[in-house]
Amino acid sequence: MLKSERKTALVTGANSGIGLELTKKLIENGWMVVALIRSEFPKEDPEFQQKIRQGDIRIYHADLSDFTQLKSALMQIKEKETKLDALFNNAGGSFPNLSFSPQGRELHYEIQTVVPFIITMELLDLLKKGNPAIVIQTSSDAFHFKRIFVPEELANPPKFHKLIGPYASSKLAITLWTHALAPELKREGVNMISIDPGNNNTMRKGRNGGLPLIIRPFIRLFGPHPSVGASRLFAGLERSSNEAGLYISKGKPTEFKFKQHAPNVLLQVKTVYEKEYLPL
Ligand SMILES: NC(=O)c1ccc[n+]([C@@H]2O[C@H](COP(=O)([O-])OP(=O)(O)OC[C@H]3O[C@@H](n4cnc5c(N)ncnc54)[C@H](OP(=O)(O)O)[C@@H]3O)[C@@H](O)[C@H]2O)c1
Repeated sequence: MLKSERKTALVTGANSGIGLELTKKLIENGWMVVALIRSEFPKEDPEFQQKIRQGDIRIYHADLSDFTQLKSALMQIKEKETKLDALFNNAGGSFPNLSFSPQGRELHYEIQTVVPFIITMELLDLLKKGNPAIVIQTSSDAFHFKRIFVPEELANPPKFHKLIGPYASSKLAITLWTHALAPELKREGVNMISIDPGNNNTMRKGRNGGLPLIIRPFIRLFGPHPSVGASRLFAGLERSSNEAGLYISKGKPTEFKFKQHAPNVLLQVKTVYEKEYLPL
């Protein structure tokens, strides 16, 4: 098949955990991958390195929390890539403490809610050339524990709890803006959904500080391999545009709370995009 006929997916956080397994799955299924990553891919897999050399995996680097780096990488992608059939906003994770992006917003919110909106808007023209095009957000069922959700506190939360605090709020917030924006993007030919990849064991030495101590042994013992979560994200490629804006958990469309806040969250991320990112 000619390169121009093959499907292309952009994956953020493609170098590790669920994103790495998703990248492998896409490649196995004949896709090309545009990897938007901060760190390098593991060097030990010669077949994978071969795919990089032959251009089936094309790498762009950025720390996504930094708008200057993000803008530079997105400009390169828009210059060099010709179309995108899928965008997986996957980079992120649960961080160990309250920290802030260079722009001054809480880090989970910036990376997992605001930045995916910026990437989606900036790559919309490439997605419109995809056939059919879909945006798949990596969400999480961690937000089911939330009893209170105040959109105005996302950027500067008054309290911090691992996993069920700002992490869960940021996953709820991306699920909400996706729900609110999906009908508009559907009219432009781009489908958009959120998927919970489920619990996966992506624990690594020195990198587990964002998980509450109590759940670490369970994930270590019973958490499935990240290829399970990757398969759930990959299966999203089959979702039709009739399902635009839905949240998929355990492979099924699933209801979620706080939908009344969806337009407000969308307005918040849109304001950051227009007032802070675009003038850069
Ligand atoms: N594992 C689970 O049980 C689970 C459950 C539900 C949802 N999720 C979600 O699944 C996604 C992938 O997580 P994972 O479990 O596969 O964790 P992971 O192995 O730690 O992978 C996280 C990826 O995100 C990247 N990333 C984090 N911060 C970044 C930044 N500032 N700039 C650029 N890239 C950044 C990391 O890059 P570096 O390698 O440079 O750090 C890495 O590639 C996350 O959104 C997570 O919230 C995971």
